[in-house]
Amino acid sequence: MHRNSVLLFERYAKPLLKPGLTVLEIGPDGDPSTYCRLAGSDLDWRTADLAPSVFDARRYNYATAVDKLTYPMPDEYTIQAPTGAFDVVLSGQVIEHVRRIWVWMQELARVCKSGGYVVTINPVSWPHHEAPIDCWRIYPDGMIALCEDAGLEVVLSKCEGLESTPSRRTYPGQTFDYAVEDTRSTRAKRRLKTLLGWPMSTSLDTVTIARKP
Ligand SMILES: C[S@@+](CC[C@H](N)C(=O)[O-])C[C@H]1O[C@@H](n2cnc3c(N)ncnc32)[C@H](O)[C@@H]1O
Repeated sequence: MHRNSVLLFERYAKPLLKPGLTVLEIGPDGDPSTYCRLAGSDLDWRTADLAPSVFDARRYNYATAVDKLTYPMPDEYTIQAPTGAFDVVLSGQVIEHVRRIWVWMQELARVCKSGGYVVTINPVSWPHHEAPIDCWRIYPDGMIALCEDAGLEVVLSKCEGLESTPSRRTYPGQTFDYAVEDTRSTRAKRRLKTLLGWPMSTSLDTVTIARKP
């Protein structure tokens, strides 16, 4: 998971995760996921992602913990959980991979408890990346419309980059901390580039928190 998503999660989503709450994470990056580990203990943490049959159909396999999912999804829009089951429904870097986001958002709202929250973080500046497909980049105005159509009240939606880089020149792109090979020599090269004023890419993402009335 890229650094800006972690930073946005810690600043905006983590304060909602009070001990004892039931959380559904959609599209986790492992078991336990990065968000789950950052959230700390005393949470009832469940997960949902596309079932292996959906991956196989597309010859794509992203999730590392696919056999550990609480709710393997039989298709892109169905979470086989009861209505109003979760205090917080959370997904990071997933919505851009969903074709009919207006249908998907209704399903997130359905499984959220009344008084609970739907939280999404989605990349704005990242280049095209398939998981298993890539469809959208969404700014706050778009997220607000989606949430409202799903019957959710938006508490916060902002497009923000929280990564601090020593570089004097940055441009929106992939995360500053992202490197395919994160070795001592790649880190040293990046440090040298920033000192020389080389333009470095940093990530911009939209974080949205919406309450189910
Ligand atoms: C780019 S990965 C993000 C994983 C992790 N959250 C992270 O930030 O590293 C996208 C994830 O969304 C899942 N995904 C794609 N379409 C989905 C859908 N319609 N419903 C639920 N999950 C979906 C993919 O299987 C994959 O695990």
